[in-house]
Amino acid sequence: MAFRCDNCGHLSSKWMGFCPQCFIQEPLVEDATVPSGRKSRTAPAATADLREVRADSASRLKVGIGEVDRVLGGGFVAGSVCLVGGEPGVGKSTLLLQVAGRLAREGRRVLMVSAEESAQQVAMRAERLAVTGPGISLVADDEVERVLATASSELPDLLVIDSIQTVGVGDMPGAPGGVGQVRESAARLIRFAKERGVATVLVGHVTKDGGIAGPKMLEHMVDVVLYLEGDPDRGLRALRCLKNRFGATHVVGLFEMTGDGLGEVEDPSKAFLSEWESSVPGTIAFPAVEGRRSVLVEIQALTHPTPTPQPRRSVRGVESARVHQILAVLARHGRLETPGLDVYVNVVGGWRITEPGCDLPIALAIASSVMDLPLGAVAAWGEIGLAGEVRQVPYEARRREEAARIGLDNVIAPSGRRGLRLDAALLLAGLIR
Ligand code: TYD
Ligand code: MG
Repeated sequence: MAFRCDNCGHLSSKWMGFCPQCFIQEPLVEDATVPSGRKSRTAPAATADLREVRADSASRLKVGIGEVDRVLGGGFVAGSVCLVGGEPGVGKSTLLLQVAGRLAREGRRVLMVSAEESAQQVAMRAERLAVTGPGISLVADDEVERVLATASSELPDLLVIDSIQTVGVGDMPGAPGGVGQVRESAARLIRFAKERGVATVLVGHVTKDGGIAGPKMLEHMVDVVLYLEGDPDRGLRALRCLKNRFGATHVVGLFEMTGDGLGEVEDPSKAFLSEWESSVPGTIAFPAVEGRRSVLVEIQALTHPTPTPQPRRSVRGVESARVHQILAVLARHGRLETPGLDVYVNVVGGWRITEPGCDLPIALAIASSVMDLPLGAVAAWGEIGLAGEVRQVPYEARRREEAARIGLDNVIAPSGRRGLRLDAALLLAGLIR
């Protein structure tokens, strides 16, 4: 077979979108009358006109749990692979069983592969979560090929692998959980998902340093990466989207772990501030922005004379480098020295803040604890620079609105063209005169 240019008659053995002889921008057309000189050994890959590939042809499997669908951008995409990471005990298996239950209720079929727990353990959890009815099949196996054989015959709407670190492939050396095994297992599961159009979830354990155990490559291989986070001692859980080939990232869903599973949190700000005691020194509210919404979280600081030569700096929920910098700027530009003091900073509820807007509330909470003066019902935000300036951060209006909705009219934040300096902020907070 050959391809001919309609304009100049040039013949080519391969198809091209323009003519390499007369350069006319018209695709070559198939000419079956001309035998091609050379037989190509490989069949050409199929092409599709980009304009004809419908972007919405990727159908979504809507779960029916609002917070989950929101984080996924509307549900699981058929043939996509989603990694759900989280520390042991945070509630990954619980969440996925609830997802399976909801889908089954809508007449969908889910294949749950439990390589970690026995069928009895899963059944006990299902009973607790009131996940009943047909539609969910359970496989307690850790061999990927056997699992894929089952999945091929069942072709479920959703395949859940709990977890990727505990399944393995028999034809490769090494125990499950090793880098090679995790990568190969994931590669085979991903290939299956794409070829058969089965939405697949891989559960992944998180190591102490916060990454998913096994190769970082796992995150590159999959389409969607979600993390379930939260303080195991408290009820709140955040489902965070770190990567999404089909939607927005930095979207967060909020849940509360209850006696019968994870429930959606209607009003996260109220939930976060439910135990806030603004009359105690060292605490303040911060309207964080996650995805497109603002959520008020409580930031706490405690300073205390250290009994050791080396003061402790203990930080939870924000980067500790951030706190070290804030302490340096407080000393230099706020005349607030902290040598000889242990400093503890905590974001309440196991929440993790990555935006620089939390600088000012942290500084004010620390100063409030050092001075032993409560800040009262105050919300604050702003990024602190090394020169002692407090900079504006995005979504000013949204933060202000959320603070006002909760009844916090007293706000300390840089606004408009007039900048704010750290010492002025301390003055506004009533911490210095
Ligand atoms: P689990 O889903 O097993 O966590 P993971 O799969 O991430 O390791 O959940 C573990 C914790 O959740 C466990 O400590 C018990 C608690 N839990 C509840 O509080 N309520 C419930 O309804 C369920 C099923 C679990
Ligand atoms: Mg589990």
